[in-house]
Amino acid sequence: MEPRPPLNLLILLHFLLSCTLATSSSLAPHISPTKSPSPPASKKTPSPSSASPSTLYPKQLQALQSLNIPTSKDPCSQPSLHNATLCDSGKPFRFLVSLRLINCSDDVQMSSTALESLTTLQDLEFFNCPIPPARFPPILISNLRSFTCINSLRKLTGVWLGRLQNLTDLTVSGVSVNASGPLIILGKLKNLRSVTISHTNLTGNLPKKWHLNITHIDLSANQLKGKIHSSLTLLGDLEFLNLSSNELSGEIPISFGDLLSLRNVSFASNSLSGSIPDSMADIPGLVQLDLSSNQFNGTIPKFISKMKKLKYLNLEKNNFHGVMPFNGSFIKSLAVFKVGGNSNLCYNHSTVSSKLKLGIAPCDKDGLPVSPPPDKSGSSGDDGNNSDYSDDDTSSSDAKHNEEKRHGPSKIVFGVAIGLSSVVFLIVFLVLLSKWCG
Ligand SMILES: *[C@@H]1O[C@H](CO)[C@@H](O)[C@H](O)[C@H]1NC(C)=O
Ligand SMILES: *[C@@H]1O[C@H](CO)[C@@H](O)[C@H](O)[C@H]1NC(C)=O
Ligand SMILES: *[C@@H]1O[C@H](CO)[C@@H](O)[C@H](O)[C@H]1NC(C)=O
Ligand SMILES: *[C@@H]1O[C@H](CO)[C@@H](O)[C@H](O)[C@H]1NC(C)=O
Ligand SMILES: *[C@@H]1O[C@H](CO)[C@@H](O)[C@H](O)[C@H]1NC(C)=O
Ligand SMILES: *[C@@H]1O[C@H](CO)[C@@H](O)[C@H](O)[C@H]1NC(C)=O
Ligand SMILES: *[C@@H]1O[C@H](CO)[C@@H](O)[C@H](O)[C@H]1NC(C)=O
Ligand SMILES: *[C@@H]1O[C@H](CO)[C@@H](O)[C@H](O)[C@H]1NC(C)=O
Ligand SMILES: *[C@@H]1O[C@H](CO)[C@@H](O)[C@H](O)[C@H]1NC(C)=O
Ligand SMILES: *[C@@H]1O[C@H](CO)[C@@H](O)[C@H](O)[C@H]1NC(C)=O
Ligand SMILES: *[C@@H]1O[C@H](CO)[C@@H](O)[C@H](O)[C@H]1NC(C)=O
Ligand SMILES: *[C@@H]1O[C@H](CO)[C@@H](O)[C@H](O)[C@H]1NC(C)=O
Repeated sequence: MEPRPPLNLLILLHFLLSCTLATSSSLAPHISPTKSPSPPASKKTPSPSSASPSTLYPKQLQALQSLNIPTSKDPCSQPSLHNATLCDSGKPFRFLVSLRLINCSDDVQMSSTALESLTTLQDLEFFNCPIPPARFPPILISNLRSFTCINSLRKLTGVWLGRLQNLTDLTVSGVSVNASGPLIILGKLKNLRSVTISHTNLTGNLPKKWHLNITHIDLSANQLKGKIHSSLTLLGDLEFLNLSSNELSGEIPISFGDLLSLRNVSFASNSLSGSIPDSMADIPGLVQLDLSSNQFNGTIPKFISKMKKLKYLNLEKNNFHGVMPFNGSFIKSLAVFKVGGNSNLCYNHSTVSSKLKLGIAPCDKDGLPVSPPPDKSGSSGDDGNNSDYSDDDTSSSDAKHNEEKRHGPSKIVFGVAIGLSSVVFLIVFLVLLSKWCG
C-alpha cells in the first residue's frame, strides 16, 4: 500500500528527466553549458566533409516560429529582420546566440518547449512584450550573459531575476519588480558589469556591498529609501551612476571622490542633504553632475569650474547659499547649466552678465541676494539690473542664447524700408503724371 504513490512519482520523474535530457543532450555535443559557442569552439567540432550551407538548428527554427518570428528569410543571415536574431557560425547547424522579441502580440507564449530549445542564447531581449514570464531552464540560465526586459513580461520578482546568475548585463525598465530590495538581485549576480533597474517601483535600501567590477548602475525612478552607504565609493571602475527619482536621504559619502572613473552622476529628485563633498574635486573625467531637486546646502564649491570635461551641471531646486562661484565664460562652456530655485544663492554681476537668465538674484556687496525673486515676471524687457530673474526653470538651460534675440532693430528697418519705398513710388508717380500732362 505504502510504496505505491512514491513509485508513481518516481516513474513520472524519470519520464520528465529523460525528456529534458533528450532535449539538452541534443544540444550538448555542440555547445557545452558553460563554454560560449564562439567561432573557435565550433571549429573544434568535427565538421562533415560535405560543404552543406549553414542553417539554423531545426528545433530553434521551430521555437522562433512559435514565437511569431518570421522565418521565411534565413534568421541567421545578417542583418536579420529588426536585428531580432544572431547566430554562431557552427556547422552543419548554426545556433542562436542572441534573440530580441519586439512588440509581441497577445497570443505569443514562451512555452517551456521553446525555451528548452533556446538554451544556447547568451543574449535575450524583450521590448514591449507583455507576455507572462516563464521559468528558464538551467542551461539557458547558465549561458545567458545579457538580459533586457523593457515594458515586458508583465511582472517580475527579485527572486526570478536573481536566478540569472551568470549575467554581466541586466536591463529592466517599465515593469514592476517585487523584491525586498536590490540586494536580492545584485547579491546573486556576481559577474555583473552593468545594471539598469529603472521605472520598476523597486523598494528597499541600496546594497551595502557591491561587486567591485561594476561600471554602470542605473536604479533611477524607483522607491529606494535610506542612505547611500560609503561602500559605493569602492567601485573604482564605476563610470555611470543614476540614482535619480528615489526617496534616498542622508548625505553624499565624503569619500565620493574615490570614484575615479566616474563620468555621469545623477542624484536628482531625492531627499539628500548636506554639502557637495570636497573630494569630488578629485574626479578627473566628470562630464555630468545632476544634484537637482534635493535639499543640498552649503556653498557651491569653486573646484567645479576647474573640471575640464564637465558639460552638464544641474544644481537647481536645492538650498545652496552664498555667491555662485562661476563666471560667464565657464557657464557658456557648458551645454546645460541650471542653478534656479536656490533662494539664498546669488551671482556676482561683475563676473556674470545679467542677461544670462539664471533664475537667481544678483548679490549685494555682502554676497547676499539683493531681493527675493519676484513671484512671476511676465515681462520680456531686458533693461535694468534686476529684470533678469527667471522663475521659469525650463528656460534657464538655454538662457545664454537669449542675449542675441532682439527683434527691435529689424522692425525699425522694416518700417523705414516701407516708408522709403512709398516716397520713391510717389516721386515716380508725380514725374510720370507731369510728363503725361505736359
Ligand atoms: C542592426 O544592427 C546594425 C549593426 O549593429 C545597425 O547598424 C542597424 O541599424 C540595426 N538595424 C535595426 C533595424 O535595428
Ligand atoms: C514597435 O512598436 C512601436 C510603437 O508602436 C513602433 O514605433 C516600432 O516601429 C515597432 N517596432 C517593430 C520592430 O515592430
Ligand atoms: C555559470 O553558472 C553555472 C551555474 O549555473 C556555473 O557553474 C558556472 O561556473 C557559471 N559560469 C560562469 C562563466 O560564470
Ligand atoms: C508604479 O506604481 C505606480 C503607482 O502605484 C503605478 O502607477 C505604476 O504603473 C507602477 N509602475 C510599474 C512599472 O509597475
Ligand atoms: C510581493 O511579494 C510578496 C512576497 O512574495 C507578497 O507578499 C506581496 O503581496 C507582493 N507584492 C505585490 C505588490 O505583488
Ligand atoms: C574583475 O574583472 C577582471 C577582468 O576584467 C577579473 O580578472 C577579476 O577577477 C574581476 N573581479 C571580480 C571581483 O569580479
Ligand atoms: C537618470 O534617470 C532618469 C530617470 O530614469 C532619466 O530621466 C535621466 O535622464 C537619467 N540621467 C542620466 C544622467 O542618464
Ligand atoms: C546642511 O544640511 C545638514 C544636513 O541636513 C545640516 O546638518 C547642516 O546644518 C546644514 N547646514 C547649513 C549651513 O544649513
Ligand atoms: C553623460 O553625460 C553626457 C553629457 O550630458 C551625455 O552626452 C552622455 O550621453 C551621458 N552618458 C550616458 C551614458 O548617459
Ligand atoms: C572664468 O572661470 C574660469 C574657471 O574658473 C577661469 O579659468 C577663467 O579664467 C575665468 N574667466 C574670466 C574672464 O575671469
Ligand atoms: C564680485 O567680483 C568682483 C571682481 O572679481 C570682486 O571684486 C567682488 O568682491 C565680487 N563681489 C562679491 C560679492 O563676491
Ligand atoms: C544698476 O546697478 C548699478 C550697480 O549696482 C547701479 O549703479 C545702477 O544705478 C543700477 N541701474 C539701474 C537702472 O538700476
